[in-house]
Amino acid sequence: MLKNKLVVLGVTGSIAVYKAVEICRLLMKNGARVKVIMTRAAEAFVAPLTFETITGGPVGTRMFGQVRSWDIQHISWAQEADLFLVAPATANVIGKVCQGIADDLLTTSIMAATSPVIFAPAMNREMYNNPIYQDNMEKLAARGYQFVEPGTGYLACGDEGKGRLAEPEEIVDYVIKELTMKKDFSDRKLLITAGPTREPLDPIRFFSNFSSGKMGYALAEAASRRGGQVTLISGPTNLTPPPGIRFIPVNTTLEMQEAVFDEFSRTDLVIKAAAVADYRPANPKKQKIKKEEEFLNVKLTSNPDILLELGKIKKNQILVGFAAETEDLVKNAMEKIKKKNLDFIVANDLTSPGAGFEVDTNLVKVINREGDIREFPLMTKKEVSHKILDVLSEKIKGR
Ligand code: C5P
Repeated sequence: MLKNKLVVLGVTGSIAVYKAVEICRLLMKNGARVKVIMTRAAEAFVAPLTFETITGGPVGTRMFGQVRSWDIQHISWAQEADLFLVAPATANVIGKVCQGIADDLLTTSIMAATSPVIFAPAMNREMYNNPIYQDNMEKLAARGYQFVEPGTGYLACGDEGKGRLAEPEEIVDYVIKELTMKKDFSDRKLLITAGPTREPLDPIRFFSNFSSGKMGYALAEAASRRGGQVTLISGPTNLTPPPGIRFIPVNTTLEMQEAVFDEFSRTDLVIKAAAVADYRPANPKKQKIKKEEEFLNVKLTSNPDILLELGKIKKNQILVGFAAETEDLVKNAMEKIKKKNLDFIVANDLTSPGAGFEVDTNLVKVINREGDIREFPLMTKKEVSHKILDVLSEKIKGR
């Protein structure tokens, strides 16, 4: 799968170094050529000889003074690479790259890399949560550096929490996807909405729905990995925004509307996966509502239909809506396409097991204005995202 691909594997000083050995082996098993660069701290955990034996080539360790014929080549490794993977990546190396510090062979090579660079972080939970680290990660992600999210679980320091290096299979899978993924959304600007909205009843209560945001977040990640410039506008969810995208959090439908309209003119493609509340309390109370009467009447007023409004003003933008239905799926979806002036509707039947809100899978049909239906089997929301993007990609080709 990775035949003729050169992966430069940067290894930094974390107890998870032993997993880098497995990552190196798996990359090679998939056909990649691998060249390894280790930091001095990494050498304290595993000897370069281990990687030299697996790769059958020299391991880069020192900037200067290494008595090897290849030592001038470190920059050329970085420039020849099809992909630069740093696994495990410590807070230290990420911090240094973020600040433009290149004080050893690895950081120098990363700075000189012209290929995609992927970090697979591994560190203590508190280090991971430290706002300094989080800022660095965000800054690098905004510049196109990619991150394989660490796992949660037992950490070498005895803590439990987020910071465990992702599993080697997962990291290698990410690398394979990156190297084989189409970049058919390069230079396209996508606006994706996700999650539920919250409609306040009083200062501490709200109406909402069960949307988890998973579908919209998966779409945002997939589009970004396919080269798109993604802005994700999301209601409250428990999800971490995918790296490399612009994230705008909102609460209410009115806030979502404002954010969407601010972005719309700069957008090529809008995917509205958010479960927007159709109604909101007409007169949200300024003070907490007291428990007094047996019945409480709340008057609801209709929210703006954001997608409908976009349909009225759209120029060249492609508009994609989601239709969650419990009956007459296709008929209702077609009506929505017409009413809201959409290019596509992604319809999912909420009554099918494994489809719709909260779950990790979805069962969708993508329908266009002409009524052509593309039906997909039950698959993960990540996979569904790529199927949806495949359909949209045909549409934007040549535009
Ligand atoms: O009409 P219905 O709510 O089923 O349409 C769903 C589609 O319309 C979704 O794409 C949703 O994000 C969008 N929508 C909206 N504003 C609303 C209601 C729905 O943008 N107020």
